[in-house]
Amino acid sequence: MKKKLAPSILSADFRKLGEEVSSAANAGAQYIHIDVMDGMFVPSISFGMPVIRSIRPVTDAVFDVHLMVQDPERYVEEFARLGADLITVHAEATKHLDRTLQQIHSLGKKTGVALNPATPLSVLDHVLYQTDMVLLMTVNPGFGGQKYIEPMTEKIRTLRERLLREGREIDIEVDGGINEQTARIVLEAGANVLVMGSAVFDGKDVAGNVRKYLKMMEE
Ligand code: DX5
Ligand code: ZN
Repeated sequence: MKKKLAPSILSADFRKLGEEVSSAANAGAQYIHIDVMDGMFVPSISFGMPVIRSIRPVTDAVFDVHLMVQDPERYVEEFARLGADLITVHAEATKHLDRTLQQIHSLGKKTGVALNPATPLSVLDHVLYQTDMVLLMTVNPGFGGQKYIEPMTEKIRTLRERLLREGREIDIEVDGGINEQTARIVLEAGANVLVMGSAVFDGKDVAGNVRKYLKMMEE
């Protein structure tokens, strides 16, 4: 599977968000990971529609919108309209996951299904046919800068083995605590899309960080 880097703007400097996004994209990041939090599904509130609208013109990179929102089906149409390319919903947050995925596809967008660390892979059993990407949370969602939960490595490996066995070309994105060290671990286990928040947006050299991690991913 093709490897992709998805810098998460949650850790960006919001005083100059447009510049941060274009630095990451121009340095080669294929995705821009956009964390929307509603203060219900997760404890914190991040940002929403106006922010996405204002950064959409900055780049053609894939907008990878991670909805940490209760009942996300209420909003997928609007996020699609604002320029999301890939819309990820949490299996835990929607009663009708299959319908929500159908809705995203009907808007011409790619689907992602996110699972919290405690959620078993079996919730994917009957929706893989509608899933373009599985997002495995490697921290409990809600905040950047947390520590990678080590038992998630086995979860990644189990999922990749299953997908290979079934001949399914589905991306596995990992999100939370990914840095130089854990990136190697998750890649080896079978993840191919790496979210990096604090590792890329460190307040110093965003473009340099992106180039460094892209190079590492190809090693
Ligand atoms: C956490 C978010 C992440 C976050 C990752 O709930 O979904 O995307 O930005 O941040 P780091 O890479 O710093 O763990
Ligand atoms: Zn995220």
